[in-house]
Amino acid sequence: MSVVDEVKARLDIFDVISETVSLRKSGQSYTGFCPFHTNTKTPSFVLFPHTQTWRCFGACADGGDIFSFVMKRDGTDFKETLAYLAERAGVKLETRNHSTPAQDEQRIKLLTLNSAAAVYFHHQLINSPVGATTRRYLMERSLTSETIVTFQLGYAPNQGKQLIQHFTQRGYTIEELQQVGLIGLPDDGSAPYDRFRHRLMIPIHNRKGEVIGFGARALADKQHPKYLNSPQTVFFDKSATLYGLHLARKQISQQNQAVIVEGYMDVIQAHQQGAKNVVAQMGTALTESQLKLLSAGSPKIVLALDSDAAGNAATVRGLSMARQVLPKKRRPTMTARGIDFESHLTQEIYIAALPTGQDPDDVLRQGLEAWQKLLDQAIPSLDFYEQLILKNTDFQSPQGKSSVVKSLIPIYRDVGDEIEKSARVQRLARTIGIDERLLMAELTGNSPAETQRTKPSRQPPPALKTEQGPTHTASISTVSGPMGLEEYCLSLILTYPSTLAMANDALEQQGLPPLTADDFNRGEHQEIFRSMQLWTASQIPKLEILTDMVGQPLAQQIVRLTNQWKHHVKVSVPELQQDLQVTVLKIRIENVNAQITQLKFLQQNSTPAMQRKYMVMVGEYQQLRKKLDSAKG
Ligand code: UTP
Ligand code: MN
Repeated sequence: MSVVDEVKARLDIFDVISETVSLRKSGQSYTGFCPFHTNTKTPSFVLFPHTQTWRCFGACADGGDIFSFVMKRDGTDFKETLAYLAERAGVKLETRNHSTPAQDEQRIKLLTLNSAAAVYFHHQLINSPVGATTRRYLMERSLTSETIVTFQLGYAPNQGKQLIQHFTQRGYTIEELQQVGLIGLPDDGSAPYDRFRHRLMIPIHNRKGEVIGFGARALADKQHPKYLNSPQTVFFDKSATLYGLHLARKQISQQNQAVIVEGYMDVIQAHQQGAKNVVAQMGTALTESQLKLLSAGSPKIVLALDSDAAGNAATVRGLSMARQVLPKKRRPTMTARGIDFESHLTQEIYIAALPTGQDPDDVLRQGLEAWQKLLDQAIPSLDFYEQLILKNTDFQSPQGKSSVVKSLIPIYRDVGDEIEKSARVQRLARTIGIDERLLMAELTGNSPAETQRTKPSRQPPPALKTEQGPTHTASISTVSGPMGLEEYCLSLILTYPSTLAMANDALEQQGLPPLTADDFNRGEHQEIFRSMQLWTASQIPKLEILTDMVGQPLAQQIVRLTNQWKHHVKVSVPELQQDLQVTVLKIRIENVNAQITQLKFLQQNSTPAMQRKYMVMVGEYQQLRKKLDSAKG
């Protein structure tokens, strides 16, 4: 049994969930109010003890096992969740990493030095006479003592060597102080000095809450730079850090929304006002690594941009492109027509433009309503870019039209979703008064005449003919042995990474969404799939890269899954692709069937009003099943 299974076997999902959700027995299951969205009228959250799973039949439509629940509730990643649940279950985790015990010890010593430095600066601010001016400064900025404690704000005295003395007396070496960036050590051999002098000290934590560096604000006018930050160290990489994430992650996960601001003070003010899902990119351009820190759980990302940045086409263009690195999240959603796969959610970067001359700190000080209003007006980055281009160009003139097209078409080309792409082209054509076919041709790089002439032969052959049926998949499926569908699906992709994109294309052609982590029920499978998505797109997907990325114990599971394929019959790529596609459809059908069973179950034990609601939902799921069945062929 893998440790993940052992943890699951030893814990009861009921115990964990009932800590946050008050549950009522209803037949063989339990119902309650879903903790992940506001719902006060109907309890949409259901726990199924015999399968040890949960599902929300309301707004969030999420579900899964004990791992997915804790990850979502606490905003933790898979590894952290495993560590937490394993401890609760009394299961010992093998900590197999590449470092020696001596290296581990040194790492801990340096991290301890960082946090001791934060305590030292904090003490100077709170208790020492030299901290008085800074205490006053913070009061003038209307920060409370509670905030000062929460953010561990501090003061670095204006003296060349005080910190060096303090820590060398406590057993740290000059080299160690330098390694964490607390001192400067001149090349010319002259004496080391404290890096931070007469500054307000802001400790920067990683997502686990360990102090990894400092931002230090000038307190006198003539001090430059305004913020002196820790240099790059083994722990601190500004471009891969979001300030405040350790305090915000839980709220981000619960509200399913993250707000990114520019500066330290903006985050601090936000949390003080009660907006606790706010983090800062710390003044530099937003990076892919920073976005990835937020992608667990795919929250809506809102970027608060000052008016200069929001008016700058290059900046906004960059952000519109950045959305492509975010994972796609699509779920079946309830619409008037039933369950709809097409109205999917693509994770988006929204832009909220700040009023001229104000930063988030200023808006927040007017109160939470002003802040919320600003966020409510946020619009998707690409729409923002479109509006910016249209606002700045006279698109009534021929040159204006041409310039708008030149700015927007290259960006549309990168939109991954075909439906979105053509919807955007249509809208632009209408707005600027250009023939849509002309724009379409511009998009594909063909002149209109050419497009029409060569259309039949240029179209890719349909990736899947439904009448074909899953005839040759049986031989491949025998490889799977006792594997469940989810494992079989993962093992296929792990062994033949390129099949994922192909199978997804084929699914999209059938009007179905591509495979996402949400299709898997088990937390560990979701995690493996999430890590795998980017990996399959790499030039040469090497298994070691993936196993390194996920770490133990999932690495072991990945190896086990790929071993299943050692002795398989040689099959062609199209066959594999179709096998994967059919497996995905089978997984979905299984899920839909489970949900229908669950709903019928719930129906038996509910009020007449709820019974009717459940019945409607059953009908919708049945329709969805029909669609999946016919896609499967
Ligand atoms: P701002 O100049 O907008 O500062 O820089 P701020 O956060 O609003 O601070 P106050 O309100 O003037 O005190 C935004 C962010 O850019 C980074 C910091 O992370 C800062 O919070 N920055 C700015 C630097 O790293 N170095 C600098 O010299 C200036
Ligand atoms: Mn400011």
